[in-house]
Amino acid sequence: MSVFKSHISQMGAYKPPLEGRDNHQHLLLDFNERVLPVSPAVKQALIDFINDDQLQVYPAYGDIIHKIADYCGVKPDQVMTTNGSDQGIDLIIRSACREGDEAIIPGPTFAMYHQCAKIENLNIIEPAYSRENGFPKQAVMDAITDKTRLIVIANPNNPCGTPIARNDILDIAKAAPEAAILVDECYFEYTRQTVCDAVEQYPNLLVTRTFSKTWGLPSVRLGYIISGKDNINALLNVRGPYDVNQLAVVAIDAALANPEYTQEYVKEVIEVSKPMIEAFLDKQKIEYWPSVANYVWVFFKQPSLVEQKLKEANILVRPKMDSQAKLGLRITLGNKQQTTHLIDTLASVL
Ligand SMILES: Cc1ncc(COP(=O)(O)O)c(C=O)c1O
Repeated sequence: MSVFKSHISQMGAYKPPLEGRDNHQHLLLDFNERVLPVSPAVKQALIDFINDDQLQVYPAYGDIIHKIADYCGVKPDQVMTTNGSDQGIDLIIRSACREGDEAIIPGPTFAMYHQCAKIENLNIIEPAYSRENGFPKQAVMDAITDKTRLIVIANPNNPCGTPIARNDILDIAKAAPEAAILVDECYFEYTRQTVCDAVEQYPNLLVTRTFSKTWGLPSVRLGYIISGKDNINALLNVRGPYDVNQLAVVAIDAALANPEYTQEYVKEVIEVSKPMIEAFLDKQKIEYWPSVANYVWVFFKQPSLVEQKLKEANILVRPKMDSQAKLGLRITLGNKQQTTHLIDTLASVL
Protein backbone atom coordinates (compact mmCIF):
# COMPACT_ATOMS: atom_id res chain seq x y z
CA MET A 1 0.00 0.00 0.00
CA SER A 2 1.58 3.29 -1.10
CA VAL A 3 0.96 6.72 0.37
CA PHE A 4 1.28 8.13 -3.14
CA LYS A 5 -1.24 8.48 -5.96
CA SER A 6 -1.49 5.07 -7.61
CA HIS A 7 -0.44 6.29 -11.07
CA ILE A 8 2.76 7.78 -9.58
CA SER A 9 3.73 4.54 -7.82
CA GLN A 10 3.16 2.64 -11.05
CA MET A 11 5.24 4.95 -13.28
CA GLY A 12 8.84 4.27 -14.32
CA ALA A 13 11.57 6.85 -13.68
CA TYR A 14 13.24 8.69 -16.56
CA LYS A 15 16.68 7.10 -16.43
CA PRO A 16 19.10 8.28 -19.12
CA PRO A 17 21.90 5.72 -19.69
CA LEU A 18 24.59 7.45 -17.62
CA GLU A 19 26.42 4.39 -16.36
CA GLY A 20 30.06 4.16 -17.37
CA ARG A 21 30.07 7.46 -19.33
CA ASP A 22 33.46 9.07 -18.98
CA ASN A 23 34.48 11.99 -21.14
CA HIS A 24 38.16 11.28 -20.47
CA GLN A 25 37.80 7.77 -21.85
CA HIS A 26 34.99 8.15 -24.39
CA LEU A 27 34.09 10.43 -27.23
CA LEU A 28 30.60 11.27 -25.97
CA LEU A 29 28.28 11.42 -28.98
CA ASP A 30 25.24 10.16 -27.07
CA PHE A 31 23.61 13.13 -25.28
CA ASN A 32 23.74 15.96 -27.87
CA GLU A 33 26.15 17.86 -25.66
CA ARG A 34 28.83 20.28 -26.76
CA VAL A 35 31.76 17.90 -27.31
CA LEU A 36 34.45 20.44 -26.31
CA PRO A 37 35.14 22.07 -22.93
CA VAL A 38 33.72 25.50 -22.06
CA SER A 39 35.76 28.71 -22.32
CA PRO A 40 38.52 29.51 -19.82
CA ALA A 41 36.50 32.59 -18.81
CA VAL A 42 33.62 30.40 -17.59
CA LYS A 43 35.98 28.17 -15.58
CA GLN A 44 37.71 31.22 -14.08
CA ALA A 45 34.40 32.83 -13.07
CA LEU A 46 33.45 29.67 -11.14
CA ILE A 47 36.87 29.49 -9.45
CA ASP A 48 36.69 33.19 -8.51
CA PHE A 49 33.20 32.74 -7.07
CA ILE A 50 34.34 29.85 -4.86
CA ASN A 51 37.51 31.64 -3.78
CA ASP A 52 35.46 34.70 -2.86
CA ASP A 53 33.79 32.61 -0.11
CA GLN A 54 30.27 33.00 -1.37
CA LEU A 55 29.12 29.38 -1.19
CA GLN A 56 27.47 29.81 2.21
CA VAL A 57 25.18 32.59 0.94
CA TYR A 58 21.73 31.93 -0.62
CA PRO A 59 21.56 32.62 -4.35
CA ALA A 60 20.81 36.16 -5.56
CA TYR A 61 20.53 36.41 -9.30
CA GLY A 62 21.51 40.05 -10.01
CA ASP A 63 20.80 41.14 -13.56
CA ILE A 64 20.92 37.71 -15.24
CA ILE A 65 17.29 37.99 -16.38
CA HIS A 66 18.11 41.26 -18.17
CA LYS A 67 21.14 39.67 -19.82
CA ILE A 68 19.15 36.63 -21.02
CA ALA A 69 16.32 38.89 -22.23
CA ASP A 70 18.85 40.99 -24.18
CA TYR A 71 20.33 37.85 -25.71
CA CYS A 72 16.85 36.73 -26.81
CA GLY A 73 15.57 40.13 -27.90
CA VAL A 74 12.57 40.02 -25.53
CA LYS A 75 11.51 42.05 -22.48
CA PRO A 76 12.88 41.07 -19.05
CA ASP A 77 9.35 40.46 -17.73
CA GLN A 78 8.91 37.84 -20.46
CA VAL A 79 11.74 35.67 -19.08
CA MET A 80 12.31 33.43 -16.07
CA THR A 81 15.15 31.05 -15.27
CA THR A 82 14.65 27.37 -14.46
CA ASN A 83 16.75 24.48 -13.23
CA GLY A 84 17.50 23.24 -16.76
CA SER A 85 14.77 23.24 -19.37
CA ASP A 86 13.57 20.00 -17.77
CA GLN A 87 12.22 22.11 -14.92
CA GLY A 88 10.66 24.54 -17.41
CA ILE A 89 8.82 21.64 -19.07
CA ASP A 90 7.64 20.34 -15.70
CA LEU A 91 6.51 23.78 -14.46
CA ILE A 92 4.50 24.46 -17.61
CA ILE A 93 2.79 21.07 -17.65
CA ARG A 94 2.09 21.11 -13.91
CA SER A 95 0.68 24.61 -14.02
CA ALA A 96 -1.42 24.22 -17.17
CA CYS A 97 -2.93 20.73 -16.92
CA ARG A 98 -5.29 18.76 -14.70
CA GLU A 99 -5.73 15.00 -14.40
CA GLY A 100 -7.62 13.65 -17.42
CA ASP A 101 -6.75 16.57 -19.74
CA GLU A 102 -5.49 15.77 -23.22
CA ALA A 103 -1.89 16.42 -24.24
CA ILE A 104 -0.75 16.23 -27.87
CA ILE A 105 2.91 15.21 -27.97
CA PRO A 106 4.12 14.29 -31.48
CA GLY A 107 6.64 11.45 -31.32
CA PRO A 108 9.06 9.95 -31.11
CA THR A 109 10.46 12.78 -29.04
CA PHE A 110 12.34 13.81 -25.92
CA ALA A 111 11.26 11.59 -23.00
CA MET A 112 10.72 14.32 -20.43
CA TYR A 113 7.43 15.51 -21.96
CA HIS A 114 5.84 12.09 -21.45
CA GLN A 115 7.32 11.81 -17.99
CA CYS A 116 5.81 15.13 -16.85
CA ALA A 117 2.49 14.43 -18.62
CA LYS A 118 2.25 11.06 -16.88
CA ILE A 119 2.92 12.65 -13.49
CA GLU A 120 -0.19 14.80 -14.10
CA ASN A 121 -2.09 11.72 -15.35
CA LEU A 122 -2.87 13.28 -18.73
CA ASN A 123 -4.22 11.44 -21.76
CA ILE A 124 -1.42 11.55 -24.29
CA ILE A 125 -2.09 11.65 -28.04
CA GLU A 126 1.02 11.00 -30.10
CA PRO A 127 0.91 11.88 -33.83
CA ALA A 128 4.00 10.47 -35.57
CA TYR A 129 6.84 12.38 -37.25
CA SER A 130 7.99 10.81 -40.50
CA ARG A 131 11.26 10.95 -42.40
CA GLU A 132 9.46 11.99 -45.58
CA ASN A 133 6.91 14.50 -44.21
CA GLY A 134 8.55 15.71 -41.01
CA PHE A 135 6.28 17.29 -38.41
CA PRO A 136 2.72 15.86 -38.49
CA LYS A 137 0.95 19.23 -38.57
CA GLN A 138 -2.38 18.00 -39.90
CA ALA A 139 -2.56 15.14 -37.40
CA VAL A 140 -1.87 17.62 -34.59
CA MET A 141 -4.60 19.97 -35.85
CA ASP A 142 -7.03 17.03 -36.17
CA ALA A 143 -6.26 15.86 -32.63
CA ILE A 144 -7.23 19.17 -30.99
CA THR A 145 -10.44 18.89 -28.90
CA ASP A 146 -12.04 20.95 -26.15
CA LYS A 147 -10.05 18.82 -23.67
CA THR A 148 -6.65 19.68 -25.16
CA ARG A 149 -4.61 21.61 -22.57
CA LEU A 150 -1.10 20.98 -23.85
CA ILE A 151 0.61 20.70 -27.23
CA VAL A 152 4.35 20.08 -27.29
CA ILE A 153 6.44 21.17 -30.26
CA ALA A 154 10.15 20.49 -30.02
CA ASN A 155 11.78 22.71 -32.62
CA PRO A 156 13.92 21.01 -33.80
CA ASN A 157 12.69 17.66 -32.55
CA ASN A 158 14.91 15.17 -30.74
CA PRO A 159 15.90 12.47 -31.88
CA CYS A 160 15.15 13.27 -35.52
CA GLY A 161 16.41 16.88 -35.84
CA THR A 162 13.25 17.86 -37.74
CA PRO A 163 12.50 21.60 -37.91
CA ILE A 164 8.94 22.95 -37.62
CA ALA A 165 7.92 25.97 -39.69
CA ARG A 166 7.08 29.11 -37.75
CA ASN A 167 3.67 29.39 -39.44
CA ASP A 168 2.80 25.82 -38.49
CA ILE A 169 3.51 26.59 -34.83
CA LEU A 170 1.48 29.79 -34.92
CA ASP A 171 -1.42 28.08 -36.76
CA ILE A 172 -1.53 25.48 -33.99
CA ALA A 173 -1.38 28.17 -31.29
CA LYS A 174 -4.33 29.89 -32.97
CA ALA A 175 -6.31 26.65 -33.34
CA ALA A 176 -5.95 25.71 -29.65
CA PRO A 177 -6.19 28.98 -27.69
CA GLU A 178 -7.03 27.16 -24.44
CA ALA A 179 -3.99 24.88 -24.60
CA ALA A 180 -0.45 25.68 -23.49
CA ILE A 181 1.73 25.48 -26.60
CA LEU A 182 5.12 24.39 -25.29
CA VAL A 183 7.76 25.15 -27.92
CA ASP A 184 11.05 23.56 -26.86
CA GLU A 185 13.93 25.50 -28.46
CA CYS A 186 16.65 23.55 -26.68
CA TYR A 187 18.81 23.54 -29.84
CA PHE A 188 17.97 27.13 -30.88
CA GLU A 189 21.57 28.23 -31.49
CA TYR A 190 21.96 25.60 -34.24
CA THR A 191 18.87 26.76 -36.13
CA ARG A 192 18.29 30.42 -35.15
CA GLN A 193 14.58 29.64 -35.70
CA THR A 194 12.37 30.96 -32.90
CA VAL A 195 8.86 32.05 -32.02
CA CYS A 196 9.96 33.95 -28.91
CA ASP A 197 9.14 37.23 -30.65
CA ALA A 198 5.49 36.08 -30.91
CA VAL A 199 4.77 35.53 -27.19
CA GLU A 200 3.04 38.87 -26.76
CA GLN A 201 0.69 38.20 -29.65
CA TYR A 202 -0.01 34.57 -28.68
CA PRO A 203 -0.81 34.36 -24.96
CA ASN A 204 -0.76 30.55 -24.97
CA LEU A 205 2.81 30.31 -26.34
CA LEU A 206 5.58 29.22 -23.95
CA VAL A 207 9.15 28.76 -25.19
CA THR A 208 11.72 26.74 -23.24
CA ARG A 209 15.46 27.07 -23.84
CA THR A 210 18.68 26.00 -22.15
CA PHE A 211 22.37 26.62 -21.59
CA SER A 212 22.93 22.84 -21.54
CA LYS A 213 23.61 22.20 -25.21
CA THR A 214 25.43 24.73 -27.39
CA TRP A 215 26.71 26.64 -24.36
CA GLY A 216 28.13 23.43 -22.92
CA LEU A 217 26.86 23.79 -19.34
CA PRO A 218 24.46 20.90 -18.61
CA SER A 219 26.25 20.17 -15.33
CA VAL A 220 25.22 23.47 -13.71
CA ARG A 221 21.57 23.27 -14.93
CA LEU A 222 20.26 26.55 -16.30
CA GLY A 223 17.28 26.80 -18.57
CA TYR A 224 14.78 29.59 -19.16
CA ILE A 225 11.19 30.14 -20.23
CA ILE A 226 10.08 32.95 -22.53
CA SER A 227 6.39 33.80 -22.52
CA GLY A 228 3.91 36.64 -21.95
CA LYS A 229 4.36 38.58 -18.72
CA ASP A 230 1.23 37.11 -17.08
CA ASN A 231 2.35 33.55 -17.80
CA ILE A 232 5.80 34.25 -16.36
CA ASN A 233 4.26 35.73 -13.20
CA ALA A 234 2.03 32.67 -12.81
CA LEU A 235 4.92 30.24 -13.28
CA LEU A 236 7.03 32.19 -10.77
CA ASN A 237 4.35 31.33 -8.20
CA VAL A 238 5.22 27.68 -8.71
CA ARG A 239 9.04 27.77 -9.07
CA GLY A 240 10.95 27.92 -5.78
CA PRO A 241 12.97 31.08 -5.03
CA TYR A 242 16.29 29.18 -5.05
CA ASP A 243 15.63 26.41 -7.58
CA VAL A 244 18.38 27.81 -9.79
CA ASN A 245 21.78 27.49 -8.17
CA GLN A 246 24.23 30.36 -7.96
CA LEU A 247 27.05 28.54 -9.73
CA ALA A 248 24.81 28.22 -12.78
CA VAL A 249 24.21 31.96 -12.85
CA VAL A 250 27.93 32.73 -12.39
CA ALA A 251 28.83 30.38 -15.26
CA ILE A 252 26.14 31.63 -17.63
CA ASP A 253 26.97 35.27 -16.91
CA ALA A 254 30.55 34.56 -18.02
CA ALA A 255 29.41 32.50 -21.02
CA LEU A 256 27.10 35.28 -22.26
CA ALA A 257 30.01 37.72 -22.05
CA ASN A 258 31.96 35.52 -24.51
CA PRO A 259 29.34 34.43 -27.06
CA GLU A 260 31.95 33.92 -29.81
CA TYR A 261 33.05 30.74 -28.06
CA THR A 262 29.61 29.26 -28.64
CA GLN A 263 29.12 30.81 -32.09
CA GLU A 264 32.39 29.35 -33.43
CA TYR A 265 31.49 25.91 -32.17
CA VAL A 266 28.00 26.05 -33.70
CA LYS A 267 29.47 27.19 -37.03
CA GLU A 268 31.96 24.32 -37.14
CA VAL A 269 29.33 21.71 -36.22
CA ILE A 270 26.75 22.91 -38.74
CA GLU A 271 29.00 24.04 -41.60
CA VAL A 272 31.76 21.44 -41.39
CA SER A 273 30.84 18.37 -39.33
CA LYS A 274 27.25 17.97 -40.51
CA PRO A 275 28.05 18.02 -44.27
CA MET A 276 30.95 15.62 -43.58
CA ILE A 277 28.79 12.95 -41.91
CA GLU A 278 25.97 13.43 -44.44
CA ALA A 279 28.37 12.95 -47.35
CA PHE A 280 29.75 9.81 -45.71
CA LEU A 281 26.27 8.34 -45.07
CA ASP A 282 25.10 9.22 -48.59
CA LYS A 283 28.16 7.56 -50.10
CA GLN A 284 27.59 4.42 -48.02
CA LYS A 285 23.84 4.54 -48.89
CA ILE A 286 22.88 4.53 -45.21
CA GLU A 287 19.49 5.98 -44.34
CA TYR A 288 19.23 8.93 -41.92
CA TRP A 289 16.68 11.62 -41.08
CA PRO A 290 17.41 15.12 -42.39
CA SER A 291 18.45 17.15 -39.34
CA VAL A 292 18.95 20.85 -38.65
CA ALA A 293 20.64 20.25 -35.30
CA ASN A 294 23.93 18.86 -33.94
CA TYR A 295 22.82 15.24 -34.24
CA VAL A 296 21.75 12.77 -36.91
CA TRP A 297 19.49 9.78 -36.47
CA VAL A 298 21.00 6.99 -38.54
CA PHE A 299 19.47 3.64 -39.52
CA PHE A 300 22.24 1.08 -39.98
CA LYS A 301 21.36 -2.46 -41.06
CA GLN A 302 22.72 -3.82 -37.76
CA PRO A 303 22.35 -0.92 -35.31
CA SER A 304 23.17 -2.82 -32.12
CA LEU A 305 26.34 -4.24 -33.64
CA VAL A 306 27.43 -0.80 -34.86
CA GLU A 307 26.71 0.66 -31.42
CA GLN A 308 28.76 -2.11 -29.79
CA LYS A 309 31.69 -1.71 -32.19
CA LEU A 310 31.73 2.06 -31.69
CA LYS A 311 31.70 1.52 -27.94
CA GLU A 312 34.69 -0.81 -28.24
CA ALA A 313 36.41 2.09 -30.03
CA ASN A 314 35.40 4.37 -27.09
CA ILE A 315 32.72 6.26 -29.03
CA LEU A 316 29.28 6.39 -27.37
CA VAL A 317 26.09 6.96 -29.40
CA ARG A 318 22.40 6.64 -28.43
CA PRO A 319 19.96 3.99 -29.65
CA LYS A 320 16.47 5.41 -30.32
CA MET A 321 13.41 3.62 -31.75
CA ASP A 322 11.17 5.14 -34.41
CA SER A 323 7.36 4.84 -34.21
CA GLN A 324 7.48 1.51 -36.07
CA ALA A 325 9.90 0.15 -33.43
CA LYS A 326 12.81 0.31 -35.88
CA LEU A 327 16.08 1.00 -34.10
CA GLY A 328 18.24 3.94 -35.14
CA LEU A 329 21.39 5.40 -33.62
CA ARG A 330 21.32 9.08 -32.76
CA ILE A 331 24.81 10.43 -33.21
CA THR A 332 25.88 13.79 -31.81
CA LEU A 333 28.28 15.84 -33.92
CA GLY A 334 31.37 17.46 -32.49
CA ASN A 335 34.08 19.49 -34.20
CA LYS A 336 35.86 18.56 -37.44
CA GLN A 337 38.56 16.48 -35.78
CA GLN A 338 36.01 14.49 -33.74
CA THR A 339 33.82 13.94 -36.80
CA THR A 340 36.79 12.73 -38.83
CA HIS A 341 37.55 10.23 -36.08
CA LEU A 342 33.88 9.15 -36.01
CA ILE A 343 33.79 8.65 -39.78
CA ASP A 344 37.10 6.74 -39.85
CA THR A 345 35.84 4.47 -37.08
CA LEU A 346 32.46 3.96 -38.76
CA ALA A 347 34.20 3.14 -42.03
CA SER A 348 36.25 0.42 -40.36
CA VAL A 349 33.25 -0.92 -38.42
CA LEU A 350 31.02 -1.12 -41.48
C1 LIG B 1 14.55 18.57 -26.85
C2 LIG B 1 15.18 18.67 -25.49
N1 LIG B 1 14.64 19.47 -24.57
C3 LIG B 1 15.17 19.59 -23.34
C4 LIG B 1 16.29 18.89 -22.97
C5 LIG B 1 16.81 19.02 -21.56
O1 LIG B 1 17.66 20.08 -21.42
P1 LIG B 1 18.15 20.60 -20.01
O2 LIG B 1 19.51 20.06 -19.78
O3 LIG B 1 18.14 22.08 -20.13
O4 LIG B 1 17.17 20.14 -18.96
C6 LIG B 1 16.91 18.04 -23.89
C7 LIG B 1 18.09 17.27 -23.51
O5 LIG B 1 18.51 16.34 -24.16
C8 LIG B 1 16.33 17.93 -25.19
O6 LIG B 1 16.88 17.15 -26.13
